[in-house]
Amino acid sequence: VDSETNQLRRAYSEAAQLFHHILLNTQLGESALAYLQDRGLTTETIEKFQLGFAPQREILVAFLSEKGFSQQLLIKTGLFADKENGVLRQRFRGRVLFPIRDAQGYVVAFSGRTLSQDPKVPKYLNSPETKLFNKRRILFNFDLAKSAIRQNGFALLLEGFMDVLSAYQAGVQNGIASMGTSLTNEQVYLLERTTEHLCLCYDGDKPGQNAIARALKLLQPVTRLKLNVVLLPEKQDPDEYIQKNGGQAFKNLVTKKQQTKMSFWMTYLATRHNLENENEQLAYISEVLEKIAQLTEPIERDLYLNQLAKRFSLEKSSLTKQLHLLIRQQK
Ligand code: UTP
Ligand code: MN
Ligand code: MN
Ligand code: MN
Ligand code: MN
Repeated sequence: VDSETNQLRRAYSEAAQLFHHILLNTQLGESALAYLQDRGLTTETIEKFQLGFAPQREILVAFLSEKGFSQQLLIKTGLFADKENGVLRQRFRGRVLFPIRDAQGYVVAFSGRTLSQDPKVPKYLNSPETKLFNKRRILFNFDLAKSAIRQNGFALLLEGFMDVLSAYQAGVQNGIASMGTSLTNEQVYLLERTTEHLCLCYDGDKPGQNAIARALKLLQPVTRLKLNVVLLPEKQDPDEYIQKNGGQAFKNLVTKKQQTKMSFWMTYLATRHNLENENEQLAYISEVLEKIAQLTEPIERDLYLNQLAKRFSLEKSSLTKQLHLLIRQQK
């Protein structure tokens, strides 16, 4: 790699060490450390992920300059926001820092979580894109998760940083996150080289469920990954589920309770209709049939046609007829 890349890596490594030290060993980091412990993270996890704390106080410019980094390089790190009177100001202030590493394990960015409860303050703030940090290509925790993904035979896609950390601490170490956006083709490609299975485990709230629906629609045409879904109770994300029910319960959920895409669609589409009403029943049934029409294996189709027939006390032959009509229309 070129010397600028090397320097940027070194700058990020130094910054990560500094913020980590501040979190664990200084008075400046006390409240942030208490916050993380309060959220159930052990010192071991905090160290494993090299979590840090960026204080309000301006410390990073002086620290990195003293290490010999030029002002020009510092600007390229993205660690500094706008200049004030020509002086660099650090981007992250009063935030807990989650280092984001590339597939080789180099820290290439941070995401900072506010400690403030004020809903007007953005909860997470990310480093901007830099020479090292191309958001589209990076999956949070992929470097650490890779061997567990191979071992378990699947990758577990979670929504957030804390979900990945709590899962990891609970012994579910194949967790990754795409950091607030849908998976990009580049991220899918990274996964395809490592596994054949991807399990989506998003937050149990409405946005989380809608995000699964969006992800499935987006992924299906572009990937050969087999996609499964794990559903959480409403209003819980994986981290909250683990805090409430313990790590073993989460482990059981992701190893034994994975649902097929189709099973997700049947549940998801049902939440969007009032199934007491016959018009809505008919609408629901045709939406499910549209999904069944996309299945390629006859046994799969049969399985869900049977479920549908049973649920609404229909003749399976009429469902099959309707399915074939639909498939013919689509051609
Ligand atoms: P969530 O809103 O579910 O937050 O966003 P969370 O992960 O549960 O956060 P905690 O538990 O309150 O700390 C899911 C993910 O979306 C991205 C982050 O990657 C977050 O982990 N996000 C969310 C942002 O990038 N910015 C935001 O302001 C909020
Ligand atoms: Mn397989
Ligand atoms: Mn969420
Ligand atoms: Mn959360
Ligand atoms: Mn969440």
